[in-house]
Amino acid sequence: AWRISSLIEQEKQIIRDKVGNNRVICGLSGGVDSSVVAALIAETIGDQLSCIFVDNGLLRKGERDQVEKNFTEHFKTDLHVVDARDRFMNELAGVDDPQKKRKIIGKVFIDCFRDEAKSIENAKFLAQGTLYPDVIESGANPDGPAATIKSHHNVGGLPEELGFELIEPLRDLFKDEVRRMGLELGLPEEMVWRHPFPGPGLAVRCLGEVTEERLSIIREADAILIEELYAAGLYRDIQQAFVVLLPVQSVGVMGDARTYENVAAIRAIESEDFMTADWFPFPHDVLQRISTRIINSVRGINRVVYDISSKPPSTIEWE
Ligand code: XMP
Repeated sequence: AWRISSLIEQEKQIIRDKVGNNRVICGLSGGVDSSVVAALIAETIGDQLSCIFVDNGLLRKGERDQVEKNFTEHFKTDLHVVDARDRFMNELAGVDDPQKKRKIIGKVFIDCFRDEAKSIENAKFLAQGTLYPDVIESGANPDGPAATIKSHHNVGGLPEELGFELIEPLRDLFKDEVRRMGLELGLPEEMVWRHPFPGPGLAVRCLGEVTEERLSIIREADAILIEELYAAGLYRDIQQAFVVLLPVQSVGVMGDARTYENVAAIRAIESEDFMTADWFPFPHDVLQRISTRIINSVRGINRVVYDISSKPPSTIEWE
């Protein structure tokens, strides 16, 4: 704890020296890294900080509320929530190719971010949650597989043409240090330990066309999965867990009636670095509870399957 608090003091001093009296913009994603950056800057020069959170309609249940609560109540920042749900949905209508979805989402995100950033006067700096592993992965071998994966994942990364000077206070830190820093700064445990979530959000977990209805099915099922992982005390033994909605319908029975509904897949993995991963060996009773609850309470799902694929050759996401 001592090391972390002195690290925080050190970073605060660097921020003060660099920023002076200028304004800083920080993009919030709901994830750990951007939250810690925002919290750190809020504690240092709170009234010079503006945060931008783009609600793309592809978030998990309760995610926007949590960000709003945290960065208006706990840390009092000038928080700009951009409600871009319709814009994203319109652009995604009719698209089912995963790479096209990613491209559209990346582009709309940057447009929304840029528009909102323009409305913030005198902003000179953009704060980003780049970590040490990101720095070495992209620097050591710019053409290596890690770099390729990063650039392809870096939907949240903002282009230089936005014209800001970057500040990256987490550049020398590893993930566990960032988490400890977050806790020390007073971010809620739940946020600090939250599993990673891809920039393109639920769109990459909704196979086939992204519709409001399908998103809401995933959201409900995913919330049940996460609740059950907490209840079983397994959340932190698993590095990432989520629900994927397959573009498949199949026959089921409910009472006397025949149903024809969607298949949900559960993905849960153990991984050190997310470059390789194994599927999590669930106790059967936990899987059973998850499946029963999802099928009984989420309308639109009549079948649940568990993904038992490792990475490689599979990926962690299933898009
Ligand atoms: P894959 O599916 O390639 O995922 O095995 C490896 C890790 O990266 C996350 N991921 C993303 N993170 N933007 C992100 O910030 C993205 O576009 C993105 N796509 C995948 C994925 O959730 C996993 O943790």
